[in-house]
Amino acid sequence: MHKNITIIVAEDYETMSHKAAEIFAESITANPNKSFGFATGATPVGMYKNLVKLHKQENLDFSGVSTFNLDEYHPLAPDSPQSYRQFMYDNLFSHVNINKNNIFIPDSKAADPHMEAKEYEAKIENKGGIEMQILGIGLNGHIGFNEPNETFDANTRYTPLAKATIESNARHFASAEDVPTNAITMGIRSIMLARHILLLANGVNKATILRDALLGAITPLVPASILQLHQSVTVVIDKEAATLL
Ligand code: F6R
Repeated sequence: MHKNITIIVAEDYETMSHKAAEIFAESITANPNKSFGFATGATPVGMYKNLVKLHKQENLDFSGVSTFNLDEYHPLAPDSPQSYRQFMYDNLFSHVNINKNNIFIPDSKAADPHMEAKEYEAKIENKGGIEMQILGIGLNGHIGFNEPNETFDANTRYTPLAKATIESNARHFASAEDVPTNAITMGIRSIMLARHILLLANGVNKATILRDALLGAITPLVPASILQLHQSVTVVIDKEAATLL
């Protein structure tokens, strides 16, 4: 295992979520005016619950931080229940003292999504870059919506979703046909510029891809494998996801 990767194996999802929230909260407390990167999906929901708890019970202060989400579907109404904007407000932003002017999520209805992506990248840079980026991992190794075979030097961009991703995300929509075919996502390069990465995964179905990503060849076929070259990665996973490491 690479020296730059720390792996924490938690007993179960709850413990994993608690540990991840603790690490993230420490970073926010140490860097109260910096930018932080957020992910959606099932994996970080428990961590967000714990962050809300830390805010309510221990005054964890979000008032100075800026937030950048990894990705957003396009096109989709921003108030659609499946939008990542809605997800973030439901799970975290509505429950903590984040300044709403400092919340950045790609615009799911931007008239020119290519331009929106370019401007998003510039905003991250203008806000000083990302201190800690939360990541989940797709069954095909994607991070954000960087699907297999995307180049490692990709910036934030407008991109089609892989068939496997559309099928996997169909569980959140009425049918696979209702899943948007495109998204705006931070690129691998944008993600690699974050000063710290906090990668979460749980469940036995993530075991194979975690092994490939963390121990296998560094290849665009497994987008998350590039993290082996990042200077500071903390992986927090449950026992089931860790079975092949
Ligand atoms: C979400 C994202 C995706 C997810 C990945 C895992 O913003 O960028 O890469 O992290 O698809 O999703 P879950 O957590 O639902 O297994």
